[in-house]
Amino acid sequence: MSTIQAVRGMNDILPGEAEAWLEFETKVEAWLERYGYRNIRMPLVEHTQLFRRAIGEATDIVEKEMYSWRDELSNEELTLRPEGTASCVRAAIEHSLLHDGPKRLWYAGPMFRHERPQKGRYRQFHQYGVEALGYPGPDVDAELIVMCAALWRDLGLEGIRLELNTIGSPEERARYRSDLVSFLEKNSGRLDDDARRRMHTNPLRTLDSKNPMVQEVLASAPAMTSYLGEASLVHFEGVKRLLGAAGIGYSINPQLVRGLDYYNLTVFEWISNRLGAQGTVCGGGRYDGLFELIGGRPAPAAGFAMGNERLIALVLEAERRPEPRVPHGYVVFQGEGTDGCAVALAEELRAAGFRIVLHAGGGSFKSQMKKADSSGALCALIIGEDELRANEVSFKFLRKNEEQVRVKRDRLIELLRKG
Ligand code: HAM
Repeated sequence: MSTIQAVRGMNDILPGEAEAWLEFETKVEAWLERYGYRNIRMPLVEHTQLFRRAIGEATDIVEKEMYSWRDELSNEELTLRPEGTASCVRAAIEHSLLHDGPKRLWYAGPMFRHERPQKGRYRQFHQYGVEALGYPGPDVDAELIVMCAALWRDLGLEGIRLELNTIGSPEERARYRSDLVSFLEKNSGRLDDDARRRMHTNPLRTLDSKNPMVQEVLASAPAMTSYLGEASLVHFEGVKRLLGAAGIGYSINPQLVRGLDYYNLTVFEWISNRLGAQGTVCGGGRYDGLFELIGGRPAPAAGFAMGNERLIALVLEAERRPEPRVPHGYVVFQGEGTDGCAVALAEELRAAGFRIVLHAGGGSFKSQMKKADSSGALCALIIGEDELRANEVSFKFLRKNEEQVRVKRDRLIELLRKG
């Protein structure tokens, strides 16, 4: 029969790598707690309309990357979430989470985008998302950025640089957009197909074209900064001042517009040069209009999400692979009645906090001891019929050159501690 393989762009995370994931998750969650963010868990499936409205009809995600279908039973248009912000805001509105004030929230889990898979870009990938809901000021924008810098330190990662921009208010952007479209139309002969296509659907996205010819044209395009009003400028100055005070370096990238339409004012990305084309490990910004767009009462908000695959690739590249947690003990047993004693002993030691593997599958003492050795366990605990009769266990250090000893069960904990 033919073998069945995983779906393209959707990866298994195998033991070995999964340990690096667990350690990453432990560090990230401790860090989130330190900053006062609380966990929220949303479903993986939402109404398609949520993402259409929130992310925007003319974005790559909504135009071509969503896994959407019509549910035959309910006759609903549904989508596997391509990101978490829309769901988080939907949940905040649905459960009136802001009724008693702003909320700092985080979520984690798989996201799904039908992109062309390559290194660092997958169809099922994982994010940690961090959302500060109900906060209007630049202080929260700065907090979100400062906390990222702290996480890179916790993870031992260097060389992740920050790009920062402001895209103003929707009104300012509309004025800018219309001038940009005029400029692009005048220069359309020098644009590529992609830029010409986007010129009318999502003109701001032409700004982050990777095509050097398009970039040359854009060098003389109008700049968003000249369209910013007083309030937007003050907000941006506030973010920059606080980043300065926290000692966070950044570069202003006027081309940074992000691939989702819900942003306003501050946008930012953290980028590593070590990951090739998919170097953005984290991206976010302010999205003050999203609550209203999803049908809630207006509420300011800002947040970011980071890509676990990309960050863990950096952690592993920095040779920060955690040591596998080997068992403290491996219980081998043979002979009439020893199985029950072995089960009880293993449970007793686990209850005392030790990692204990109980041999399964039978076999001679010799073959069981081989398994004990290859498990990486520090000690073997051996129960034969003699030991069973005497209510004792034979104990052998597997990683130290010491004689095997036969002891009463109550001495085992002391010996295991020495392992
Ligand atoms: P995003 O920029 O689309 O933003 O994704 C955030 C991060 O997820 C990216 O910087 C990248 O590290 C990772 N990522 C995205 N797509 C893929 C992929 N196909 N494969 C692997 N990693 C990927 C958002 O999702 C927004 N919800 C962020 C946000 C939260 N803004 C405000 N709050």
